[in-house]
Amino acid sequence: LEKKLKGCFIGSIDQGTTSTRFLIFDGVGNPVAQHQVEFTQKYPHPGWHEQDPREILDSVGTCIQEATAQFVSQGHRISDIAAIGITNQRETTVVWDTVTGEPLYNAIAWPDTRTGALVRELKSHKDADKLQEICGLPLSTYPSSVKLLWLLRHVHAVKDAYAEGRLTFGTVDTWLLHWLNGGMEKNHHVTDTTNASRTMFMNLHTLQYDDRLMEFFGLDKEKLHLPRIVPSSCPKSFGVVARGPLKGIRIAGCLGDQSAALVGQQGFTPGAAKNTYGTGCFLLYNVGEKPVMSNHGLLATVAYDFGGSMRVAYALEGSIAVAGSAVKFLSNNLGFFEKSHQIGELAAEVEDNGGCVFVTAFSGLFAPYWIDDAKGTIFGITQYTERGHIARATLEATCFQTKAILDAMELDSGHQLKQLAVDGGMSNSDLCMQTQANIIGIPVDRPAMRETTSLGAAIAAGFAVGIWEKFAELKEINQKNRTDFQPNISEAKRAEMFERWQRAVSMCRGWLD
Ligand code: G3P
Repeated sequence: LEKKLKGCFIGSIDQGTTSTRFLIFDGVGNPVAQHQVEFTQKYPHPGWHEQDPREILDSVGTCIQEATAQFVSQGHRISDIAAIGITNQRETTVVWDTVTGEPLYNAIAWPDTRTGALVRELKSHKDADKLQEICGLPLSTYPSSVKLLWLLRHVHAVKDAYAEGRLTFGTVDTWLLHWLNGGMEKNHHVTDTTNASRTMFMNLHTLQYDDRLMEFFGLDKEKLHLPRIVPSSCPKSFGVVARGPLKGIRIAGCLGDQSAALVGQQGFTPGAAKNTYGTGCFLLYNVGEKPVMSNHGLLATVAYDFGGSMRVAYALEGSIAVAGSAVKFLSNNLGFFEKSHQIGELAAEVEDNGGCVFVTAFSGLFAPYWIDDAKGTIFGITQYTERGHIARATLEATCFQTKAILDAMELDSGHQLKQLAVDGGMSNSDLCMQTQANIIGIPVDRPAMRETTSLGAAIAAGFAVGIWEKFAELKEINQKNRTDFQPNISEAKRAEMFERWQRAVSMCRGWLD
C-alpha cells in the first residue's frame, strides 16, 4: 500500500462559513501544502447573515493559487494530484441566473434568522408535521428551503427568474462546482446526497427530490433548476476543473463539511461520533444504513455516501448554531482579544465562570432545543465579573449544548457514547476540551492533525479514483499523538453546572425583536 501511495496527492477545498482553505494531502493523509483565507460576513440587519457568492469563489481561487505554488516549490508537479474533493458549509443558499451564471442575490448563510416569521407561518400548515419523517429535518430557520422561499417572496430578480424558468438554486457545493467545472452546459449541475439532505427537498429514504416536499414549499420543479443528486464519492459526476492551476484535475469527492469531518475522523461504524467546533458546532453520530428519526430534537441526515457497492450511511445530528462565532463576537464586537486562539489565555486567568452563564443564542437556539425566538443572554453578572469569566462562559456554552445533544442522542439511539472524537478551531484549546470532558463525563479524544474536514473530502475523492478501496486501508491515518482529555470533576458538580445552564436556557426565550 505504501508503495501505491507514494507520489500520489489529493487536493481538498474546504469552503467553511467564515473561511476557505485548500489543502493538498499525500497518500497517507498528511497535509503537505495549504492556504486559508477569511472572507466578508455581512450582517445588514439583526438576524441577517449574508455572503457574496463571487467573493466565495475568489477565496477558493486564492487558496488554490497559493497552496499549489507551495506544492510546486517543494518539487512536486500539479499532475501528481490525482483528484480533488470539495467540502462546504451546508444549507447556505445561492441563487443564480441559469443563462448568465450570475448570482441574483447574496448567499443567505445558514445561521440567518430572517425567515423566523415565515417558519411560524409554515408550521401552521396542515402537513407541516409530516415533513420531518420524509426529509429528517424539522421546520426551522436553518435549512435551505425556507431561505429559497424568502428569496422568492422578497427579491424581484429571483421572482422574475423563477417565472421565466431561469432560476438556478444551489447550496455552496453546487455553486463551487458550477464555476470549477465550467458550468451547467456540461451536465455537471450536481449536489451530493449529504448536502441535498440539508435542503428539506430530498427524501432521506430514496435520496431523491420528493414531490410532497416541493409541493409543501409551493415550488414547481419545472421552473427551478435543481442540481442532480449524486453520491459523495464518484469519478465522473462532478467533472474536471476547467480553469486555473488545477485545470484538467478531476473533481471526485464532494460532501457537506460535517459529513467530511465524520469521514476524516473515520467514524465509519455505527455508534461512532464526532464533534466539530467550527463557526457552529456539529455532533454527528453514525446510525448505520437506515435513517433514525429523532424524537428528541436531533436531525436525521446522510452521514456519507461513497456510491457503487458501498451502502449509504446515516447519522443523527446535533447542530449548535454558535460556537467559534461567539469567540469571534468577543473579539470583533467586544474587543476582548485580537485573535480567536487568545480566548484560552483569557479564560485561564480565572478559576471558573464566576457565576456567569452565557446562552449564545445569536441565531435562536438550535439542537436539541429549537427555540427560534431565543436571544443571546448572559446571566449572573455582578461587580465581580471579569472578561475572563465571560470568556469561560462562552466556551462552556458550546460544551453545555453538546451535553444536551448527547443526552438526546442517548434517548434516540438507546446507546451511551463511550468517548467523543473532536476537531475544529475551539478544539485547539486544552481548557475548552477539558471543560467539555468534565461537562459530558466521558473522555474527549483529539487528533494531532485537526484538518479532519479537509481530510474527509480528500478521502472521498481518493476512493473515487481508486487510491483506497476499503475503509480498513485508512486505519493508520491521523492516529498518532492523539490527546485524551479525561473528566476530572465530580458527578454532583457536573449535574449542578448543567442544571444552571438548563435554567438559563429556559429564561432566554421570548425576547421582543
Ligand atoms: O450546517 C452548517 C455547517 O455546515 C457549518 O459548518 O464548520 O462552517 O461552522 P462550519
